[in-house]
Amino acid sequence: MNLIQRPRRLRQSAVFREINHETQLGRAHLMMPYFITSGSGIRKKHPHLSVALTLSRDELEKEIGQAREKGVDKFLLFEVSDKRDAQGSEALNENSALCESVKRIRDKFDDVLISTDIALDPYTDHGHDGLFKDGKILNDQTVEVLQKMSALHAKCGAQMVAPSDMMDGRVLAIRERLDEEGFQDCAIMSYTAKYASAFYGPFRDTLGSNVVGDKKTYQMNPANRREALRELHLDLDEGADIVMVKPAIHYLDVIADVKLDSNVPVAAYHVSGECAMLEAGVKAGLYDRTRAIYESLLAIRRAGADLIATYFAVEFARDFR
Ligand code: PBG
Repeated sequence: MNLIQRPRRLRQSAVFREINHETQLGRAHLMMPYFITSGSGIRKKHPHLSVALTLSRDELEKEIGQAREKGVDKFLLFEVSDKRDAQGSEALNENSALCESVKRIRDKFDDVLISTDIALDPYTDHGHDGLFKDGKILNDQTVEVLQKMSALHAKCGAQMVAPSDMMDGRVLAIRERLDEEGFQDCAIMSYTAKYASAFYGPFRDTLGSNVVGDKKTYQMNPANRREALRELHLDLDEGADIVMVKPAIHYLDVIADVKLDSNVPVAAYHVSGECAMLEAGVKAGLYDRTRAIYESLLAIRRAGADLIATYFAVEFARDFR
């Protein structure tokens, strides 16, 4: 056959394939989530997600030391707390396991990025991310608590706060409060398009949170794509430094849309249920662990994510070709 175009020419050998390789995935693109709890000597794995770790402060220090050796230097911290009430008061306790851990990590390691989750769900008895009264989320009152929580985390040493609550107006409010308190350098990674997803299951059982009802009045409808851009433009106007789409694998179209319209880095959260699906498939002998996880992370990068929060970050902290 006399063909001028033969795309296979660029696939014929490893060197050609290397030239024709479009998307890079490396340790720099990965951020590792950890769950922090009080006590000492505690290191627990989720039963269906071996890479989701709940750690006491001493174990977190060891873990971050090792992760850094492997090349991971971006961390996202969540607290697992047994102190729950209607207001989520523990969120503002400067001696909480999370706050103490952030201070210690920042004392010990000066070259890692510590980001903290900003939302009330680890601390509320109703399991919601915001204040909840008579069956309703109180948006503006919640934002006031999130402002205080963000300033507290910045004071403990967090260089980035990550509001995951989806309240309206919180990015600007947090930015203003951080600036007022002298934390101009503390960045905001906003959960910009966070969907009311079934794939948060392993995360919620790690936190031990039983949500009263559901989160559909604040998290987005999985049916929606256009609305993600509305949220994006609001967050950009309000001063978000990084915008996030969550979950990741089931929302690659949204990541791609956000990437096109965003003038700041785009993050994606490869959430607990998405990671657990991969491990379950490996356990059932359906596919090769390394190849399946690599392909998933690569897909998230190809869609447009500059940064991926994934429980596989430490395991995949190498530069792939
Ligand atoms: C809530 C929050 C959730 C996750 C991160 N922050 C769960 C939820 O919205 O109920 C999920 C992350 C994961 O599943 O890995 N503030």
